[in-house]
Amino acid sequence: SKPRRIFSGIQPTGMIHLGNYLGAIVQWKKLQDDNEDVILELADLHSITLPQDPKTLSKNILEMTATLLACGINPDKVLLFQQSMVSTHSEISWLLGCICTMARLNHLPTFKEKSASLKDIPLGLYIYPVLQAADILAYKATHVPVGEDQFQHIQLTQDLAKMFNNRYGYCFPIPHAIVTDNDTSRLKSLRQPLKKMSKSDPDPKSRICLLDKPEDIAMKLKKAVTDFISEVTYDPENRPGVSNLLSIHSFLSNKTIDEICRESQGLNTGQYKTSVADAIIAHIQPIQKEYYSLLSDEKYLFQVLRNGAETAYEISHATLKEMKQKLGL
Ligand code: ADP
Ligand code: NA
Repeated sequence: SKPRRIFSGIQPTGMIHLGNYLGAIVQWKKLQDDNEDVILELADLHSITLPQDPKTLSKNILEMTATLLACGINPDKVLLFQQSMVSTHSEISWLLGCICTMARLNHLPTFKEKSASLKDIPLGLYIYPVLQAADILAYKATHVPVGEDQFQHIQLTQDLAKMFNNRYGYCFPIPHAIVTDNDTSRLKSLRQPLKKMSKSDPDPKSRICLLDKPEDIAMKLKKAVTDFISEVTYDPENRPGVSNLLSIHSFLSNKTIDEICRESQGLNTGQYKTSVADAIIAHIQPIQKEYYSLLSDEKYLFQVLRNGAETAYEISHATLKEMKQKLGL
């Protein structure tokens, strides 16, 4: 089979939670460990489509870099870079913007959702799916792991790639979406187990963050909503709360849900919550230790980002050159 090139990105926001960790970072780490060709972008140009505090943003970029490395992303195996350090993304975005119609962007549900509460809509928010297409196509990526909510943006990328190929001659392979988080695989809120765990949930007790202290994790587990059956069984439909805890537990301990249910026979829900808290703490403590040690070495983190940007520029600039030639520029 043809070699795959996998492109994915994450915005440098603070507060990575277990959903982001398991739904995105762990998936990338798996691809890396399978020796796939993986490109990982810190999507800071996407972050500024909504207002950002500059100091917080630059802090978040370094912290996200440290987080990814602490979780086992290896910059010698994965091309990790900061989007704004690679100017070709904006340039390719312009070229693609000239073949994308407004009608196409108006229909995207993420835009409708994000702009609903705004009086004045920044142009960047409107065209960011075009920048996302540029990110992917700049590397001629063949596969893009995304959450279900991003699926339509990958379809836009596919359409723009086809349009460019048809009008100007073959340039881009058509990238496929790999959906890594859908309604069943998704971690749920600890407070409302029918909703997904999300950083935009106003209740901080709804999520476990990768940098939470052990006592906070224990507290959040204690307050996690379950039900009135004091027994550990997996039944996502009728017992979403306990089942979500079992999913988290299983992911983080490499035990199957069945094994955990067997081990937990005789425990009441309160006791079981303690063992989930312990499993989470055991899993994330070494990550936290590594994170703080990396964060104390900013020079190293900047070096990683500079190296990544250099390679990213080389690859993406070759694509830009090819596009310009085809366009007659
Ligand atoms: P949030 O919903 O917290 O704002 P994002 O939408 O920024 O998270 O998603 C960042 C990444 O984390 C995406 O790859 C997304 O699929 C993944 N992700 C987010 N929430 C979850 C979740 N609850 N379960 C699994 N994966 C998730
Ligand atoms: Na989100």
